[in-house]
Amino acid sequence: MTDCRIGVAGAAGRMGRMLLRLAATTPGFVLAGGVVRPGADGIGADLGRLAGLEPLGLTLGEDAEALFAASDAVVEFSAPAPSLAHAELAAATGKAHVIGTTGIDAAGQARLAEAARRAPIVFSANMSLGVNLLAGLVAAVARALDPAWDIEIVEMHHRHKVDAPSGTALLLGRAAAQGRGVDLDQASERGRDGLTGARKPGAIGFAALRGGDVVGEHSVIFAGEGERIELSHKATGREIFARGALAAARWAAGRSPGLYSMKDVLGI
Ligand SMILES: NC(=O)c1ccc[n+]([C@@H]2O[C@H](COP(=O)([O-])OP(=O)(O)OC[C@H]3O[C@@H](n4cnc5c(N)ncnc54)[C@H](OP(=O)(O)O)[C@@H]3O)[C@@H](O)[C@H]2O)c1
Repeated sequence: MTDCRIGVAGAAGRMGRMLLRLAATTPGFVLAGGVVRPGADGIGADLGRLAGLEPLGLTLGEDAEALFAASDAVVEFSAPAPSLAHAELAAATGKAHVIGTTGIDAAGQARLAEAARRAPIVFSANMSLGVNLLAGLVAAVARALDPAWDIEIVEMHHRHKVDAPSGTALLLGRAAAQGRGVDLDQASERGRDGLTGARKPGAIGFAALRGGDVVGEHSVIFAGEGERIELSHKATGREIFARGALAAARWAAGRSPGLYSMKDVLGI
């Protein structure tokens, strides 16, 4: 298998620097370059130094078009506007683009779909292979079980997290709802407190715990009469997102145009 040449857009960000390091050090991948916004501080710095490695002889650039030309796949965790502009460069060059940036609205999703008519684009708000596999398992279990089984989703994150339930808990809730053939907006039951009355039949419940430095833990509980099934995922570091993105890059490089998800990458 030939090495997959990885370009990193948004290379100076937290995820960007992690991607530089993994692309430069993971067998089967070679770092092709990294860019930041035109005119940003640090242009010309050695990418190895930026990634906390020895110098690599590659420098931080600002020319995204040249990055696409030099790469088999460009991986990006940045902001919505640059991610969408870069998807258009992917369309122009036919190169693969893996996007983990969150906060892309419906109009942005439509732009991605348009660009994906001419390039393979993988987009996922959660690039972890484990979480995406868990979502597939949750959908399959929800499909197989009688709707009399109650579904509850419990998540725990560090004390600094400001939103609840987590985006991943909602992703798992959508997987459960899809497996059961119901609409999550109708079924979801959140933040129970006080005299709530008995559990609504068919509800998908959410509970959020916060504390310490927990990176992210999610459990989906299927509770029946006399037995319980629990499917869990525990993240111990943000590297799982970068590793998933690299797996997606290898999968997408040279593939037919289309807008793909991590489910496609995993083949589930
Ligand atoms: N899908 C997943 O699994 C997953 C996992 C983790 C994070 N994320 C998402 O990934 C994104 C980045 O997260 P982060 O924690 O790495 O944030 P971060 O540290 O703020 O990094 C974002 C980087 O993007 C850069 N950027 C902005 N505009 C640019 C442009 N025009 N061209 C090139 N680079 C540009 C920013 O540069 P400036 O500082 O110059 O603006 C910054 O360095 C967020 O949307 C986050 O929610 C997704």
